[in-house]
Amino acid sequence: MSAKLPADRLIVGNCVEVMHGFPDKSIDLTVTSPPYDQLRDYKGYEFDPEGIASELLRVTKTGGVVVWIVGDKINGGRTMTSFRQALMFQELGWCVHDTMIYQKKNTPFMRSNAYTNCWEFMFVFSKGGPPKTFNPLKTPTVRSGEEMLTYNKRPDGINRKRKAVLKKEKTRTNIWAYAVGSGGSTKDKVAFQHPAIFPEKLAEEHILSWSNEGDIVLDPMCGSGTTCKMAMLHNRHFIGIDISSDYIDIAKQRIVASAKETGSQLSLVA
Ligand SMILES: C[S@@+](CC[C@H](N)C(=O)[O-])C[C@H]1O[C@@H](n2cnc3c(N)ncnc32)[C@H](O)[C@@H]1O
Repeated sequence: MSAKLPADRLIVGNCVEVMHGFPDKSIDLTVTSPPYDQLRDYKGYEFDPEGIASELLRVTKTGGVVVWIVGDKINGGRTMTSFRQALMFQELGWCVHDTMIYQKKNTPFMRSNAYTNCWEFMFVFSKGGPPKTFNPLKTPTVRSGEEMLTYNKRPDGINRKRKAVLKKEKTRTNIWAYAVGSGGSTKDKVAFQHPAIFPEKLAEEHILSWSNEGDIVLDPMCGSGTTCKMAMLHNRHFIGIDISSDYIDIAKQRIVASAKETGSQLSLVA
């Protein structure tokens, strides 16, 4: 395909149709959250998860990653939409590199007959093998100094230990917790005109983990533009698509304001 990639753009349209115009193997990373189970009232949409997953497979570079953030509606029982979508990606040929958890530190939605649900999946799919980029985020190790550490467990089941110096920091776990809602997800008031944003920090941490400066980051259902804003702030190129022109207007306002505030170079074509 000889099509040119529309970098640093916000595009109104059905993402499957818009992605048809992208070249093969041109995207490094996608961070996105689809509408699921009609949990929110968006401004009318057509949502074809399989069409989106197939088109993402074509446009993603080998070793590129899709982070797909999805939960389930709870209506009597859980719909299990998240599981169905993950299995669908795997059947199409995506590698399920990780099933991460997005934990919400504050959630007002109580259930009278079950524990309060406080998380969604963040499926990390990679194309054609392991991710080509992994910049692990670290966390400080709580203890320090020397300690007897387990170094081997053979089939005999015996844990062998040896004295070793603890490292100052270690790679984080795959459960990430964020404050949500106003003041938590973002300080951009205009973003809350969208009914279902995810936290800026969530997008930022995936962008830092699975891409490098200069890479192309896509959000095919970008809503208020969270992924695009964080990609821009970390010197990645971004492409945001949403079926609603109202949401693309919100994304545009956030990105322009943030570029102004930080002095980022931006030639946004919408
Ligand atoms: C969960 S929201 C994304 C919110 C976004 N992550 C944010 O932080 O603002 C899902 C979005 O998908 C959009 N959408 C639904 N179907 C679409 C399609 N076929 N093509 C493009 N966008 C679509 C909706 O308009 C909605 O804004």
